[in-house]
Amino acid sequence: MSVTSSGSATYSDALEGSNAKRGLWSSRFAFILAATGSAVGLGNIWKFPYVTGENGGGAFVLVYLLCIAVVGIPIMMAEVMIGRRGGRSPVNSIRLITERDRLKPAWKLVGAIGVLAGFLILSFYSVIGGWAISYVGTTASGQLAGQSAEAVGAIFSGLLSNPSTLLLWHTVFMALVMVVVARGVRSGLERAVSILMPALFVLLLLVVGYAMTTGHFGQAAAFLFQPDFSKLTTSGVLVALGHAFFTLSLGMAVMMAYGSYLPKKISIAKTSITVSVIDTGVALLAGLAIFPIVFANGLEPGAGPGLIFQTLPLAFGQMPMGTLFGTLFFVLLIFAAWTSGISLLEPIVEWLEEQKGMNRTISTIAAGGVCWALGIASVLSLNLWADVAPLGFIPMLEGKTIFDLLDFFTANILLPLGGLLVALFAGWVMSRQAMENELSLSPTMFNLWFITVRFVTPVAVAIVFIYNLM
Ligand code: PFF
Repeated sequence: MSVTSSGSATYSDALEGSNAKRGLWSSRFAFILAATGSAVGLGNIWKFPYVTGENGGGAFVLVYLLCIAVVGIPIMMAEVMIGRRGGRSPVNSIRLITERDRLKPAWKLVGAIGVLAGFLILSFYSVIGGWAISYVGTTASGQLAGQSAEAVGAIFSGLLSNPSTLLLWHTVFMALVMVVVARGVRSGLERAVSILMPALFVLLLLVVGYAMTTGHFGQAAAFLFQPDFSKLTTSGVLVALGHAFFTLSLGMAVMMAYGSYLPKKISIAKTSITVSVIDTGVALLAGLAIFPIVFANGLEPGAGPGLIFQTLPLAFGQMPMGTLFGTLFFVLLIFAAWTSGISLLEPIVEWLEEQKGMNRTISTIAAGGVCWALGIASVLSLNLWADVAPLGFIPMLEGKTIFDLLDFFTANILLPLGGLLVALFAGWVMSRQAMENELSLSPTMFNLWFITVRFVTPVAVAIVFIYNLM
C-alpha cells in the first residue's frame, strides 16, 4: 500500500493510502477490544437496567433485542465499512467517498450529526461517570456495609444534591478521557481495554452470583424475559430503538472512526457480530445482577437513572467481602465508562485535527473543554435546576430536566437519525462493488445485509419516529 500525501494524489490513492499513514489496530482482536470498549459502558450497566425498569421489563427487552439484531448489527457493519473505505475521520471519510464517487455533498451531514451527538452525549455521560468515581470512595470507606435500602438511598440523594461534588467528579472523569485521547488511539486504548473488559465481566458474574442468593432471581428473570405487551408503549419502542443505538455506539460515527483503523483483511461482519453479542451479554448480565436486588428489597424497578446506585450498593453492603468487591466493581465501571467516553471524544478530535489543522493536544483540550462546560448544565439539573423543564410545554417532554432532555434527544432522536442516514448511504448511495469488496460476504449474506440496510432499517426507524410524533 503506497502512502500518498501530495495534494495532487487521486482520491483512490487517498482511499488506498490513508490508512497506512495513521497506524492500524494491531489485530482483529485489538479492534474487537476497542469497539467493545466503546460499546460496553454506562449504557449497559447504568442505562439498560433503568430504562428496562421504567418501561415494564420483558416486552421492552424483547423489542430491544430485536432492534439490536435487525437494526444494530447491519448498521454497525455499514459504519465500520464506510470508515475503512474512507480511511479518515468520519466527516472526511464520507466526504472522500462522496467526492470520489461524485455523490451529493449533503451526505457530510452524517459526520456532522456524529460530532454534535458526541459533544452532547459526552457532556452528561461524564457526569454519570463522575457518580461512579464518587462511589469508589463511598464503597472503599466501608460506608455501605450492612446499610438499609433507605440509608443507601440517602447516600445517593446526598450526592445528587451537592453540585460542587458532582462538578469535581465530572471534571476528573473528563480529564481522564482527555488524557487518553490526547495520547492517540493506539498507545492508549488497546492496552487499557484488553485487561479491563474481561475483569468487568468477571465481577459482574460475581454480582449475579450474589443476586441468585437473594431468593428473587426467578422473579427478576421473569421480569426481564417474560414479555407483557400491555406494558409496552410506543414511546417504549422508541426508547428501545434509541437504546440499541446508544449501547452499540451507533449513529454517531464512532464505529466509522474505529473502522478507519481496521486492516483490510479482517471480516467486518464477524467482528460486528462479536461486538454486539458481547455488548448485549453484558447488559443482560447487568439486568440479572440488579433486578433480584430490586425485588428482594422492595425497591421500585422504575426508579430511574439512580437505579444501580441504589441497588448495587445494597448488594455490596450485604455480601461477604462486599467492600472489596464493591470497590473493584465501581473501579471497573469507571473503566467501562472511560473507554466509551474516549470513543465519544475521538471522532470530534480526529475531525478538528484534519479539518482545522489543530494538533492533537489542542484539539483534545478544545473539544473536551466544550463538553466539560456543557456538562455543568447536567450537574445543575440534578439539584439547583431540578425543576427546570425547558421543553415542558411539549407533552412528551413534560417534566424533563436539561439532563433528561440531553439523554432523550441524543439517544432517541440524534443517534437513530444518524443511523438512518448511514443505512441510506450504504443502501442507496455507495457503490455496490465497493461494498462487496469491503464486506467480502457470500452473495446470499451480502444480499441479506443489503436488503436490511436498504429497506428494513430505514422503514423501521421511520415508523418508530412517525408513531412517536403522532
Ligand atoms: N455505547 C456506550 C455505552 O453503552 O455506554 C455509550 C456510547 C459511546 C454511545 C459512544 C455512543 C457512542 F458513540
